[in-house]
Parts: sequence; structure tokens; C-alpha cells
Amino acid sequence: MRAKVTLITGAAGEVGQALIQRLSTEFTCESPGAAAFQRQILALDLNPLPALPKNVHQVQGSILDTGLLDRLVSEYEIEEIYHLAALLSTRAEFSPDAAHKVNVEGTLGLLHLAAQQSEWRGAPVRFIFPSSIAVFGLPDLKTKTAAPRVREWEWNYPTTMYGCNKLYCELLGIYFSRHYRQLAVDRPTSLDFRAVRFPGLVSAFTVPSGGTSDYGPEMLHAAAQHKPYACFVREDVRIPFMAMPDAVKALIDLARAPREALSRPVYNVTSFSLSAGEFRDHVLRYFPDAQIDFVPDLKRQQIVDTWPADLDDSTARRDWGWHPDYDVERAFAEYLVPSIRQRYEKGARGPGPDTCA
Ligand code: SER
Repeated sequence: MRAKVTLITGAAGEVGQALIQRLSTEFTCESPGAAAFQRQILALDLNPLPALPKNVHQVQGSILDTGLLDRLVSEYEIEEIYHLAALLSTRAEFSPDAAHKVNVEGTLGLLHLAAQQSEWRGAPVRFIFPSSIAVFGLPDLKTKTAAPRVREWEWNYPTTMYGCNKLYCELLGIYFSRHYRQLAVDRPTSLDFRAVRFPGLVSAFTVPSGGTSDYGPEMLHAAAQHKPYACFVREDVRIPFMAMPDAVKALIDLARAPREALSRPVYNVTSFSLSAGEFRDHVLRYFPDAQIDFVPDLKRQQIVDTWPADLDDSTARRDWGWHPDYDVERAFAEYLVPSIRQRYEKGARGPGPDTCA
């Protein structure tokens, strides 16, 4: 009999490491209700995971390797997929073809795999997809100011390859869960696609690479290491952010929400909205000697200028009880600053307990 597993792609990335920490903790804890969700984790990434908790089986390889995916489905019964692997927005602008390959073709291959597994199992595979504020594209700053909290269906005009990839993959996920081969075959079982649109994520334990919201976490990590930092966007630019434990919580809570409670396949989620200048002020409260300048990079600036200043996540709050544990004060005071201090003072390696809530 094949072992039942949760497949996590992009497992060695920022969100992947934090998600694995949290899920593998649940495997070993005795909390009531956790048992229903306990299963092995299959962690797929091009890169090795820095730390490998219990119940996690690592597979090093590419989501584009169809031979590898075939081998995985022959060895495991995949019940659930967190598909995190992607090239982020700045990196995708430098390598748009590679981004399209990984972000779109990679997702398409996994949707096929999930649809096939759903048919074999006779039960839908849950497919959890992190989308992004990058799916929004506001045409100018005047419109951005006039649309302070954007709803899911508003301004879906992305200007980056990454944003286009994410928006299209949301639609592909919906297509696979509702229409895929419906005309050709009588298919009672389809996959169960659910997505959250994340704001800029901030972790105390990892620094993202290749994103355009990275100036927030980079500023903070530089300050904690007593390094000067040149912020690549203007001081007044405002976007929403979220602490990493809340991002992990959003993915897991959405995955576990009862199907009938969900009124949409794709949900906005957010925590706090800050201008780059306000982000710097929070950093300075805890690291008063930090040297932070603003040296905008025109291209990256143009990208964040098209992203909303804030998201309306009221539908996620209503449907599946979403609420962040960390507002801005708590994020800095109780999660980011103490963990970052500890990390750099001790010279600690690895992802650390990114899931403490
Ligand atoms: N953090 C992502 C990026 O900057 C946006 O969701 O690309």
C-alpha cells in the first residue's frame, strides 16, 4: 500500500521551511483534532532543506521533471499539495521565460498530477496555492490612493510576469477543479483548489530572494546585523505585509476549512499595511543605530507602485475565520525583533521556530 502524504513543493523556500516546521510539530504533538490531519510530508525542492524534522521525506528535484513526478505518484498516495515553488517578481522580470516555465508549466504539471490522483483515490486532492498581491495592477498612484483596500476581483491587471503567472494559475486551478475534461469524461471527482493572495511576507528566520516586497525584511535583517541598508523603493510607497507565522496559519486554516464554508476559490489575506518609511521607523524603534537610506530603483519602484496599499480580506474572515495573530506592534515586539536578535546574536542557522504563535 502506498503511504498517504502531503506534498510540499518549494519546500526549501521561506514559506516552505516555516510550513514544514509547523506541520511536523503537529505530527508529534497530541493536540486534540490534530490527529485528523497527521500524515507524512514529502518535501520537494531543487535545493536541500537546511533542517529535516521527523516525518519529512526530502526529494531533491524539479517540479518540471515529469519522470520524477511519475515516480512520486507510483510510490505515494498524494492527498494534499501545498504548491509553493515559484520564481518571485523581481527575479521573474530578469528571466521571464524561466519564470513562465516554473510558475505556469510547473503548476500545470502539478494540477494534472492532482487531477489524476483525485480520480484514482475517488476523493478530491486538496491543492493549496499561494498567490500574491502581484496579481493586482493599479495603473497610477492616483488610482492606488483612491483604492485603499482592494477586493479580490478588483484591478486584476498585473504588470509583472510573476503577477501574470499567479493570476493565470489561479484560473487554471479553478478550471481543473470545475471544468477539466468534464465534456470528455464523466468525472465525479475533481481536485479541490484553494488559494490565498499573500501580501509581502516577513520572516525572522529567513530572508527572501528575488521578490519586490523584500525591502521590508531586508531592512530589518540588515539592522539586526548592524549593516547599512539602501532601500530600493521610495519612503512613501505603501503595501501590505504579514509575519511568516500568519502566512503559514493562513495556508493551513484554508486547507482545513470545510468545503461548504468557502464561497470563493481565491481569497485575499493580510495583516498590516505600512509605507517603507513607517517600516523603517518600526525598525529604528528597536535598532536605533540602524543606517537606512532610500535609494529607489526605478524598475522595482514601478512594480510596487502598481500593487495595492492594502487588501480587503473580509471574505476570508467571514468564510473560514481568518484573522492574523500578529498586528504590526505584536509582529515587531513579540516575533520579529526577539527572534532576529537571537538569531544573529547566536549566529544561529536554519529556519528556526517560525511558526510560534
Ligand atoms: N513577495 C512577492 C514578491 O515580492 C509578492 O507577493 O515577488
